[in-house]
Amino acid sequence: MQLTAWVNGRFLPLDESTIHIEDRGFQFADGVYEVIACFGGKFLELDAHVDRLQRSCEGIGIRLLKSRPELIELIHETYRRNPFDHAMIYVQATRGVAPRSHLITQAVEPTLVITSRELPFPSSEKLSAGASAITLPDIRWKRCDIKSIALLASVIGKQEAARQNVDEAFWLDDEGHLLEGCATNCFAVINGDIVTHPLDHQVLGGITRYLALKVAREHGITVVERPWKLDEPGLTECLMSSTTNAVVAVSHIDKITIGDGKAGPVSLKLRQWMLDEFEAMKQ
Ligand SMILES: Cc1ncc(COP(=O)(O)O)c(C=O)c1O
Repeated sequence: MQLTAWVNGRFLPLDESTIHIEDRGFQFADGVYEVIACFGGKFLELDAHVDRLQRSCEGIGIRLLKSRPELIELIHETYRRNPFDHAMIYVQATRGVAPRSHLITQAVEPTLVITSRELPFPSSEKLSAGASAITLPDIRWKRCDIKSIALLASVIGKQEAARQNVDEAFWLDDEGHLLEGCATNCFAVINGDIVTHPLDHQVLGGITRYLALKVAREHGITVVERPWKLDEPGLTECLMSSTTNAVVAVSHIDKITIGDGKAGPVSLKLRQWMLDEFEAMKQ
């Protein structure tokens, strides 16, 4: 399929879409983004994603020229022009084009780009065996609650994970608590409860994290939002969540086997409950 992108006011074939070299997104990573899943034409938590995009924009002082309904319509239209059965829609907003200077000296029109691509699913082997991860000291900035396009630390983390032949790198705070992954939130099952780092400046408020915790609570699992470490007594499973993965068990971290070394019962149930929720949403 020839992909079509929304780029600054018009739809273009992806191959022909370009951004000015003085775009502040290119010069300074001065921008924010969203990734939204769409199954069979139904968006997953679109409102929550648009809310987060607006919060991210406010967080760095970008004022989008599109109203919320206009933005939502553009997201739908981008999907209609790239209608994958399972799609992920990227929405990226930067401060816009201006002569290169750190200081924002003039009002510039924000750049807005929207694309739709096929959403890949984790393989069934990965789902039953569980994913693998490493931990790394957190080298990111102190506003991880903003979904910034400044992803250099995540690129480095992912590269290191790939070099060590694992799927994800989880960031550790100075005391050794697991915060989140390069592109995922992470959780532990400790004495049957789901434990995850509370929402603060050190983690992104993942939309899938929110959904997973909601679904877990609805099924009677206690959710505890507190800092946690890998060596806690009673820890039997680890999981990670993201728009592109839903929820996936993590069975090996830093070459340590978690639980019995494959996807554990809570992870598998939670994933199934989430998929059921996605199915129900399609009806
Ligand atoms: C650092 C980070 N944490 C968590 C997530 C998961 O967020 P969501 O569930 O909204 O995709 C992402 C997704 O890209 C991320 O980059």
